[in-house]
Amino acid sequence: MYTDKVMDHFSNPRNVGEIENANGVGEVGNASCGDIMKIYLRVEDNVIQDVKFKTFGCGAAIATSSMVTEMAIGKTIDEALVLTNQTVAEALDGLPPAKMHCSNLAADALHEAIKNYKEQNV
Ligand code: FES
Repeated sequence: MYTDKVMDHFSNPRNVGEIENANGVGEVGNASCGDIMKIYLRVEDNVIQDVKFKTFGCGAAIATSSMVTEMAIGKTIDEALVLTNQTVAEALDGLPPAKMHCSNLAADALHEAIKNYKEQNV
């Protein structure tokens, strides 16, 4: 049901935790299941240097968050804004259709964190 990449990122999630001196934080909830995702960013010169996440989400939410952090690190904030739940799911070689809503948490929290960074740095 789940791809090897999903299982890998679920069993061994990357970039879990908080960033103490984060300058962008985004939190979103999933209305359909009640799960919550929080993403912390450290941005310097418009480039994402570090990303960490915490979630009360399911296995698919953990795997997609882990993948989105890996995809966002090293990108400019505008490049990271282009990441969607679809691109994250594709990077994991797909998610079961019933779990696609879980991937929204990761992408939406990333976008919220970038928005938060931009609001603080206008
Ligand atoms: Fe809630 Fe997957 S069931 S995030």
